[in-house]
Amino acid sequence: MKPIYLDHNATAPLDPRVLETMLPYFTRDFGNPSSLHSFGRTARQALEAARAEIARQLNARESEIVFLSGGTEANNLALRGYALQHRERGHHIIASRVEHPSVLNTLKALEKEGFECTLLATDRYGRVDPQQVAAAIRPETILISIMHANNEVGTLNPVGQIGALARERGIAFHCDAVQTFGKLSLNVQTLPVDLLTISAHKIYGPKGVGALYVRRGVSISPQLYGGSQEQHLRAGSENLPGIAGFAEAARLIGRERDALAQRIGRLRDEFQATLQQRIPDLVINGHPEQRIYNTLNISIPGCPGDMLLLNLDMKGIAVSTGSACNAGKVKSSHVLTAMGLSSRLSGSALRFSLGRDNTREEIDYVVTELTAIVQRLRSK
Ligand SMILES: Cc1ncc(COP(=O)(O)O)c(C=O)c1O
Repeated sequence: MKPIYLDHNATAPLDPRVLETMLPYFTRDFGNPSSLHSFGRTARQALEAARAEIARQLNARESEIVFLSGGTEANNLALRGYALQHRERGHHIIASRVEHPSVLNTLKALEKEGFECTLLATDRYGRVDPQQVAAAIRPETILISIMHANNEVGTLNPVGQIGALARERGIAFHCDAVQTFGKLSLNVQTLPVDLLTISAHKIYGPKGVGALYVRRGVSISPQLYGGSQEQHLRAGSENLPGIAGFAEAARLIGRERDALAQRIGRLRDEFQATLQQRIPDLVINGHPEQRIYNTLNISIPGCPGDMLLLNLDMKGIAVSTGSACNAGKVKSSHVLTAMGLSSRLSGSALRFSLGRDNTREEIDYVVTELTAIVQRLRSK
């Protein structure tokens, strides 16, 4: 059997149709969009067509899309760019403890520059409570950053409500939508966000490209100095093959989104139900309903997550754990810890994130292999 990839929240394979779209920009149409000659004009046209496509997918204006090197850079630009631009209005930022490291570590850096950050705990499903957000607001709060869906457990946050209360108080709202763009329909006309992060490689596009949506009228300062590309917000020649690929990936997934959600969602639900039947004491991490359709995070008490991962890998199955092994020490996931899981449960966590090419046969094989591995580990 060919290897089974169940780690799509980490990255997804490049869609061959996307690769086809990218190739000419490596070869024939290699121009720099900033050049004035015909090569440049061809590249500029492609860049603006890609911007129009991404804007269309978000129901945004083209001028509100800034192309960047990925979700990490978009989160850095949103937080640093907004905070540093508005520091005379206040120095307090609210986020949650389950944000991606590209948010959490950016906030840590801002703290060294004089900002204060309140990191909210979540409920046991990993959900941020809008009332807690409201309670954390101070007169000096300038920015709230809450992710749409968590990458480890898939839990969806009530970002509409959080954005609405931010707007009421005149506070900017940033949302990291890396795990929902392409999975849910996002519409910035109805979602009260000022800044929104998206990335290409989670939607079968290339790695190293993403975008930040910046609502018209919201001012942020650039974090790279150089040329005037991307409306002066991101200096440097644009990665045109990547950007063209991003736009094509977004266009394709926009068309296929609902069918995918149905098919993969059903497969994930069946997978979950079968594992619950077969593995005693299995715990589901994440919200039972308010969760992206492709994600299943479980804890199997008595079985260390890294042992499960390695044993599955030997059977050709790629998953991820809820913990990172660093210099021989297993560090519990900050997400599962913030959700209140004991170290026993967070240390035995596994994340399955399904994608477009996964089949029922693959899932049946994974259930059989995982059940056998658990029996073996538990009998030791
Ligand atoms: C929620 C979330 N935010 C941000 C990122 C970073 O995106 P990128 O890999 O494009 O830098 C990821 C990627 O894992 C993510 O899952």
